[in-house]
Amino acid sequence: MITSAHIDDIRTQVRAWRAKGETVAFVPTMGNLHQGHITLVKEAASKCDHVVVSIFVNPMQFGQNEDLDAYPRTLAADSEALTAAGAELLFTPTPAVMYPKGLEQQTYVEVPGISDVLCGASRPGHFRGVATIVCKLFNIVQPDVALFGNKDYQQLLVIKTMVEDLSLPIEIIGIDTIREDSGLAMSSRNGYLTAAEKAAAPALKQAIDAMATGIKQGESFEQVTELAKAKLIAAGFTPDYLEIRHAHTLEQAQHQDQALVILAAAYIGKARLIDNLRFDR
Ligand code: PAJ
Repeated sequence: MITSAHIDDIRTQVRAWRAKGETVAFVPTMGNLHQGHITLVKEAASKCDHVVVSIFVNPMQFGQNEDLDAYPRTLAADSEALTAAGAELLFTPTPAVMYPKGLEQQTYVEVPGISDVLCGASRPGHFRGVATIVCKLFNIVQPDVALFGNKDYQQLLVIKTMVEDLSLPIEIIGIDTIREDSGLAMSSRNGYLTAAEKAAAPALKQAIDAMATGIKQGESFEQVTELAKAKLIAAGFTPDYLEIRHAHTLEQAQHQDQALVILAAAYIGKARLIDNLRFDR
């Protein structure tokens, strides 16, 4: 696997592949890779001739009091896992490469509406940071296909909307959430959990699953939400949000809606965990 922090190196390699008529899949990440990321890379390898991965802990998507500095950086282990999974080109830019003028002078991409709710409401500016960096990475790599996890459901919708609105010629593919045996969604932030917190953390998925079951059995949105919140609190979480939304628009679900998604964010110890379940009634 070729690794470079320089935009020109990435462009040169991708151009060489394209000149031969070969296709390119791209998986953007922030590193500290787990099986969720590796599944995206393997899926990417099955879709295109070449796989490009980026590792960049993007300062623009972190809030003032968030974990930018603490975010785990594990490049040696990540490189090994990526090579084994079939990645051929790894882009590891520094903040100075991606934001040479600093964050304040940087042109940004903002996807209105969908960026402002749920995680966007709790983390102002977060999705502007995500859309901006992903747009820049797309312009550097110029892939045919890019893969993202359904675990970050709102992020995936923001990126799909950006691609459509800006007419970017890239196919966006969402991949199912990869979980621990306990049901806990894999996340780099699980590393912040103590053993006791990790044992309690599967309650997040359990609460979401119980809500879906209740809804399918005809219970009211309010009833299932209140019960799930109480379960989360009993397990040691501080819920940020727990919501039933329309799966495509993320607007408040109406009682007649069929395509639903339950989205949750909750704090436990030093971690803020998210999870979701997309289902049809
Ligand atoms: P990061 O959290 O590193 O995630 C990179 C990709 O892996 C995202 O598409 C995410 O949805 C996916 N992913 C994470 N956990 C997963 C799991 N358990 N199962 C399946 N996929 C999973 O998301 C980001 O980075 C950043 O916001 C980024 C898009 C790279 C922009 O900076």
